[in-house]
Amino acid sequence: MINKIKGTQDILPSEINKWQDLEEVMRNVSKLFNFKEIRTPIFEASELFHRSVGETTDIVKKETYDFEDRGKRMNTLRPEGTASVVRSVIENKLYTEENLPLKLYYYGPMFRYERPQKGRQRQFHQFGAEIIGTDSPLADAEIINFAATFLKALKINDIKIQINSLGDQESKQKYMEALREYLKPNIKHLCNDCNRRYEENPLRVLDCKVDMDNPVLINAPKPLDYLSDEAKMHFDHVIMALEELDLDYTINKNLVRGLDYYTHTVFEITSDLETLGSQSTLVGGGRYNNLYKSLEGPDLPAVGFAFGIERLLLALEAINKEESKDFIHCYFLSIGDIYQTEALKIINDLRHGGIIIDYDFFNKNLKQQFKQADRLNPKYYLIYGEEEAKKRTINVKSTETKEQVEVDIDNLYQYLVNGLTNRSCSGGCGSCDGC
Ligand code: HAM
Repeated sequence: MINKIKGTQDILPSEINKWQDLEEVMRNVSKLFNFKEIRTPIFEASELFHRSVGETTDIVKKETYDFEDRGKRMNTLRPEGTASVVRSVIENKLYTEENLPLKLYYYGPMFRYERPQKGRQRQFHQFGAEIIGTDSPLADAEIINFAATFLKALKINDIKIQINSLGDQESKQKYMEALREYLKPNIKHLCNDCNRRYEENPLRVLDCKVDMDNPVLINAPKPLDYLSDEAKMHFDHVIMALEELDLDYTINKNLVRGLDYYTHTVFEITSDLETLGSQSTLVGGGRYNNLYKSLEGPDLPAVGFAFGIERLLLALEAINKEESKDFIHCYFLSIGDIYQTEALKIINDLRHGGIIIDYDFFNKNLKQQFKQADRLNPKYYLIYGEEEAKKRTINVKSTETKEQVEVDIDNLYQYLVNGLTNRSCSGGCGSCDGC
């Protein structure tokens, strides 16, 4: 037997409702904030991720799925969505002045070769959003508010918004120099990876999962202390907007995020819900003002976020203890297989009118058909045999009230619609109490 690859997951029919419910909320909230969906390929030229996420990040160093195609080009399964959106906006020239700011969202599988555990997979799904073409601090607040509103719509209220600023390129550069100086005498006390990171990009030392509790890292200089006046003003304005929006936040001076493209605001929303285990970060994001330019695009400042869908579903397990049960509107039971064939047109007409209906393919006897019907949880059984065929009627039995009514085939659709929408009949069905 061939099994699924470690760190991947089948999403089975029994689990699909919770995915689709979440996707519906995602689309509705995106509409509220007036974001449009963009869909990009799941693999790109490897260079795109090397140059955006960053050569020295754990993602590019250790986690990408890279492969050479038959034309000897290096490709990578996308580890995140931002870089692909940037590539697509530049390539398709979506950035004309009248289009700006672009407000885009995306949803789909991402791939990272990480050590799988609860809430951490090798193929996982992200819902991400990006505001492109404005450096307004209000856009930073808008993106954080969008993320918080989405969580609220999912009824995930136990959340912590953590925010920090890395400043503009100049502040970031100053901070990196200070960090390098600070780490120099201490670096030998840190792990081998940190020693490599120190040489390549000292900021990445702060991502260390081995030494994260080491006092050397805890006491390291903080980016907020190196902000230029302009960067500080930007950050203060973001904070003011968050306060105006009544969003609870904490400034986490240690937050730097593990991707190289960030400037100014970075943020994460975490939750302490026990079902999340140790992977408590639901969403991460921030501003990236230089990425478009660095990929030979125009000068487009941008800000965005990405949620991990599997983690949201884990969080929802703590909240929605009861799963919503599948149902259909009607199950069609026939007494004798010729009546099943005869009923095809009736079934089809009902479906065209929006009634969800299913029936038997196995020539089961009536008792077995009832058993199968009950597995599918219909609102009505529709029973049809020789008697009914002669009279051009159907016996309709409600699974809730157990009441059985003989309805003319011509009135069947109206009868069902009235019953399913709990409307009293306006005189057309010919079979209800009012007729
Ligand atoms: P990220 O922090 O790398 O940011 O990922 C965002 C979210 O994806 C995480 O907070 C987590 O919920 C989820 N995630 C990441 N890796 C895994 C994994 N292996 N298994 C399950 N879930 C995972 C980004 O990807 C940036 N592109 C976000 C962004 C958009 N910044 C600006 N715009």
